[in-house]
Amino acid sequence: MSARLNLVILGKQGAGKGTQCARLATIYSIPHVSTGDILRAAVKSDSPLGREVSSVMDAGALVSDDLVIKLVEARFLEPDAARGALLDGFPRTIAQAEALERLLGDDGVKLCVNLEVPIELVTQRLSTRRVCQECGSIYSETDISVISGTCEKCGGDVIQRADDKPEAIRKRLETYERDTAPLLEFYAARGLLVSVDGNQTPDEVTAAIKAVVHERGLA
Ligand code: AP5
Ligand code: MG
Repeated sequence: MSARLNLVILGKQGAGKGTQCARLATIYSIPHVSTGDILRAAVKSDSPLGREVSSVMDAGALVSDDLVIKLVEARFLEPDAARGALLDGFPRTIAQAEALERLLGDDGVKLCVNLEVPIELVTQRLSTRRVCQECGSIYSETDISVISGTCEKCGGDVIQRADDKPEAIRKRLETYERDTAPLLEFYAARGLLVSVDGNQTPDEVTAAIKAVVHERGLA
């Protein structure tokens, strides 16, 4: 078993990356590193970084590679990343994937899980997704927290993400095809890519990912 479990979770917007990483972080006791969450926290705190990226994110475009790579480098220096990390939303360009290889060196990415979900379904999931403004918990339309408008975990307000409006969803999915889909070949060429059917219940998807991690002797 390796000392560091670095897992990349890939998939279209709405494929369930955040949902699965929150579960897997608990299962494997490694941090959930979501560049989207880091950037949204910066926007919420109105920091200089947040002011720089806010309009780019709301429009569904990508923040610059340089900026995101620096954020991830800093995150990997934090003590909890010593055992590895679940990478959600990073890398999402070839330049970012190459930077990650340089950053992690020999003890690099152990596995890349691609959550496969058809485009019609992710579009529907995104348009009905709600998130907690305080703790970032992710909810679906029928969850009690969405019906009540209050997060069942922390009591925060449950809202729609600014980039879950139809025009931004369309733009994000175009960006995925152009900039992120090439990563499938990048990780397949390294023997690290495994596809998991993301069109199952969240519990079934988690079980499928755990099975792959186990089969590969990673945990
Ligand atoms: P980011 O926050 O990463 O958003 P994203 O890539 O658009 O992905 P999502 O969070 O929308 O989808 P998800 O796969 O996490 O789905 P979720 O689990 O929520 O990035 C936001 C922005 O930040 C980017 O657009 C960009 O501007 C910037 N950014 C971030 N990283 C960057 C980078 N590396 N480089 C440059 N820019 C960057 O699930 C979706 C919904 O489906 C939820 O309602 C959930 O409850 C539901 N659901 C999940 N799983 C299931 C299931 N199995 N069955 C039924 N429903 C399910
Ligand atoms: Mg997410």
